[in-house]
Amino acid sequence: MKERLEQIKIDALKEISECTNEAMINNVKSKYIGKKSTFNEIMAGMASLSNEEKREVGSKSNEVRNIINEALDERIKNIKDEELNKKLESDKIDITLPSKKKKIGTLHPLTIVRQEIEDLFISMGYDVVDGPEVETDKYCFEMLNVPKDHPARDAQDSFYITDDMLLRTQTSAVQIRSMLANSEKKPFKLICPGKTYRRDDDDATHSHQFSQIEGLVVGENVSLSDLKGTLETFAKKMFGENREVRFRASYFPFTEPSYEVDVSCFKCDGKGCNICKGTGWIEILGSGIVHPNVLGNCGFDPDKYQGFAFGLGIERVASLKYGVTNIRDYFTNDYRFLKNFDRKEL
Ligand code: DAH
Repeated sequence: MKERLEQIKIDALKEISECTNEAMINNVKSKYIGKKSTFNEIMAGMASLSNEEKREVGSKSNEVRNIINEALDERIKNIKDEELNKKLESDKIDITLPSKKKKIGTLHPLTIVRQEIEDLFISMGYDVVDGPEVETDKYCFEMLNVPKDHPARDAQDSFYITDDMLLRTQTSAVQIRSMLANSEKKPFKLICPGKTYRRDDDDATHSHQFSQIEGLVVGENVSLSDLKGTLETFAKKMFGENREVRFRASYFPFTEPSYEVDVSCFKCDGKGCNICKGTGWIEILGSGIVHPNVLGNCGFDPDKYQGFAFGLGIERVASLKYGVTNIRDYFTNDYRFLKNFDRKEL
């Protein structure tokens, strides 16, 4: 019996090693150790054996069954591994194929320009401050030397929430807030970017909503040449190294003297073209030396301190830089326009 068991083992192991799929394994299993197998017959015949023989044949049969079972398990594992490897091989992903492009959001052109301007002024030691869009009449006008009956208000009608609260017409209101908040009345440099509003008939060059950047520097011995140097640096950074600035006398109630500032045309280099309307100069902002009344209103001694201030429209700078001719493009959220500023494509 022991020899027969040994033979079963040898035959089974040979057939197991030849199996190439799960079905073959199952067949071999039932053929060699299944219910109708020779192995099972031997088991049944053990009853007639002596105790001594029972022990020997019993232990041999256990050994044979275990060896066959282990070989079956081992083989089935190998078959599965081979199948998996084959599958992996045939499913191989070709990573050299170009992927589908995923579009991610882009910065809005006004944000790009605002950040560029912020970075420049931060590099010159300015703080960037924020102010509320809903402003009081007092901060937006009165403290800026524009009393209730002042004609300069005509150009800055706005959306009033109450008699004294309005959507701010200019970021200049932040001048007042910053100077009042400066409890020690120490020198400072700041810019304030933000949205502004005016009652207007919207068209290609007018919008009831737009954005400005206000600049304000207060200190001792601050002069017009500081303002000029600062704005020259700004003009060169935004419009190119060869740019020059020109100051034209103007009027703002909160500065004295006041200036409109022009930059030499970046397209024609001052010769005259359609962008500068033949003049060689492009108007970009308003500025001046802070009016002593405004300093005094905010607790800064006008005999000790001077300041310069300026205000520019972000849309104007962006339109010049990118050649945008319709201001409404900035606000209508049209992808055909916005995608032109897409610098990051994955
Ligand atoms: N607030 C002015 C405007 O909206 C722009 C301006 C001009 C701001 C002169 C200033 C300044 O700070 O000094 O038209």
